[in-house]
This record gives sequence, structure tokens and C-alpha cells, in this order.
Amino acid sequence: MERLALDGGAPVRTAPWPSWPVFGDEERKLLNEVLESGQWWAVGGKKVPEFEEAFARAQEAKHAVCVTNGTAALEIALRALGIGCGDEVIVPPYTFIATASSVLAVSATPVFVDIEPDSLNIDPNLIEAAITDRTRAIIPVHIGGRPADMDGVLAVASRHGLAVIEDAAQAHAAEWRGRKVGALGTCGTFSFQASKNLNAGEGGAILTNDDAVADKCWSVHNVGRTRSGKWYEHHVLGGNYRMTEFQAAILLGQLGRLSEQTERRTANAQRLTAGLRAIPGISVGGDDPRVTRHAYHLYPFRYDAAAFSGRSRDEFLRALNAEGIPCGAGYVPLYKEVVFQRKSAGQGSWCSAGRRIDYAAVDCPVCEAVCADAVWLFQTVLLAESRDMDDIITAIARIQQAWQG
Ligand SMILES: Cc1ncc(COP(=O)(O)O)c(C=O)c1O
Repeated sequence: MERLALDGGAPVRTAPWPSWPVFGDEERKLLNEVLESGQWWAVGGKKVPEFEEAFARAQEAKHAVCVTNGTAALEIALRALGIGCGDEVIVPPYTFIATASSVLAVSATPVFVDIEPDSLNIDPNLIEAAITDRTRAIIPVHIGGRPADMDGVLAVASRHGLAVIEDAAQAHAAEWRGRKVGALGTCGTFSFQASKNLNAGEGGAILTNDDAVADKCWSVHNVGRTRSGKWYEHHVLGGNYRMTEFQAAILLGQLGRLSEQTERRTANAQRLTAGLRAIPGISVGGDDPRVTRHAYHLYPFRYDAAAFSGRSRDEFLRALNAEGIPCGAGYVPLYKEVVFQRKSAGQGSWCSAGRRIDYAAVDCPVCEAVCADAVWLFQTVLLAESRDMDDIITAIARIQQAWQG
């Protein structure tokens, strides 16, 4: 048996993985147009509206409002829906901090609902039990680019008259039952931060099919102005969350690459899945026919230490990285983050009307298990050649054979 790289053997892979971001003459040309025009900000600019229209069309939404980043997009959406002090918003605990911190930032209270072990997305069957008379909205997250069960989420939301804000920060181009994510509920938010499949370094957007919600988001993102109002006329509490023309220029270029990149990630993920399913102790999650397009921002799988002689997930990560396969452990349950464990956690200190939740007592067992055994591969690896997926499969199989005892 070949020695593992961790034990001094030759790594399975020494060749580099695709570099990120991917860009070329198109982005150079678009950026230069903005530079030379002297029109660098969105007010009166052409690129931001052009990208808003193109992105809304690509995601099958009526409206897009571009903003500074995905965190701001969530806060703006919540504010535009009038969610604030005393209100509760249901969120999954297996996500980036912004999904829940945005709720705190508008002085509302995040309520965590556990995830499904297979999709790693919010479990719609558990939402009803978390609804109180203060609940105003649900934020399903399409984690890793895999759409959440929107049938289940929308059904419970409509029974209880709740808004649905999709956190689609990781899910550009993803589809649920043949429909693009982002405007399946009340509205949806996206991130264009550096690691994302659609990237301008930083950036964000809100999508909606609702004219009034679009206008409110526009207002909040532009210091409370209205589209038809005067410059010094501020109707609601907002902020300056405007995207720049430079960001929109890069995004126009990147959007042109997204379909081909998504196809490539999908084909590679399928090859990877077929190979990994044959390795004991590795669970890649089942296929859901309702997920008609997975964006594969992440490729997560679960590691069963029992099939690896009890070696820990963190040892496995070290071994896999040593074989030349970049990978990571991913999230901790969000309610365990210090910001929530501190008794103040924003709630109470900012808003006396809210229900006080003791986050130290929150326990979402599926999320806990996933955080303990998940392994993430990243979207850039899925942009490699098809045969490169075999290096990943070989490395994992080699570790399993070496450790199975
Ligand atoms: C699920 C999720 N929500 C929200 C965000 C926040 O986006 P941004 O980093 O653009 O503020 C991110 C990205 O980091 C994310 O992954």
C-alpha cells in the first residue's frame, strides 16, 4: 500500500488547481469604460442599471437592486419588509454569520431551526414548531448552492402569513423545480464577494417580483430617497449601500462566464459523486429531483470516522490537504458563536420588546452532527478538468484504505 503524504509518501496531486478569479479582456474593457467615462458611481451611471437588468433576467426575477455586499442585502431586505424590534425571524444555524447577524442588526431576534442531514438546508418540517406570534419571516439559505426545500418553506410561510427572504449568497444560477432561486419567495439576496461563483471582490443584490418591495429596498439602499423624489428628500431610515460602477462592470463580464462555469462544476460534481459513493464512510447526500440546478459553490460531504478506524474528521482534513486536495471543515453551529453566547447578543441591549432567547440552551442536533463531520471542497476545484476529479477520489480512497485497519 502506498504511504500517505501525511506519512511522507508522494502526494496524489502536485499540479495546481484552477486559479480564481477568472477574468480577461472583457472585464478589462468594461472596467476601462468606467474609468475613462469618469462616471464612477451609480447615480447617473449606466453599468449598475445594466447589470441589475441582466442579473434579474438571468435569475428570472422582475427587479434587482444592487448593493454593497450580501450582508447589507439581507439587512436592507429585512428593513424594507418593516422587520425590527420585537420581531422574530427563523433562520438555519448552518450558514454564514450574516444570515443571523442581519436579523440582530435590525434589532429583531433570530430563531434557529435545524437543518436536514442530506441537503444541509433548513428542515421545513421543523419550522412550524418555532413560529410564535412575533414571527415575521423565514430566511432559508441555499447552502453551498443547493436550493433549500422551497415547497416546504413557502407552504409553511403561506399558512402563517410570513415573508420569505431567500439567502442565495452562494446560489447564483441555482434552480428549484426549473425556476431560478432568488425571487421564489418575497425576495432574495445574493453576494458577489471574492469567493462567490459570481464575483466582484465585494457586492450584493436583492431580487424580487414585488414592485413595492423593490421600491422599498431601493429607498433603504439609497439613504431613504425615493426613485422619483428630490435629492434632499429622505422618506425612510436608510443608508448608503450603493454599488459602484466598477463593481457592476466586473459583474457584467463575470455574468457572461457564469453559465459555462456552472455547467462545468455540475459535470465535475457528478463525476466526483459517482466516485465518492463507492468509498466506505463517505456520504455525499442524495439527489433531489426538485433541485434542477445546483450551483456548487461548495461540494460538501460527510465523513464517518468508523470507516476510518476512528480517526477524527480533522485528521482526515490534514491527510487530504497533504495529498494536494484543498478542503476545509466549514461552519460551527451559528448559535455557538460568541456573539450569540454572550447574554446580550444584541437582543435586549438594543430592543426591549423582543423575546429573550438563551442561545446557550439552543441545540440543533443535525447541525451539530454535520458541523462535526462535514468536509468541504470548494467551487474552484470543480472548475478543473474532468479527469482531475479522479485525483480527489483517489486521494480519499487511499486514505480510507490506509486507515481502515
Ligand atoms: C450564506 C451567506 N449569506 C450571506 C453572506 C454575506 O455576503 P457578503 O460577504 O457579501 O456580505 C455570505 C457570504 O459571505 C454567505 O455565504
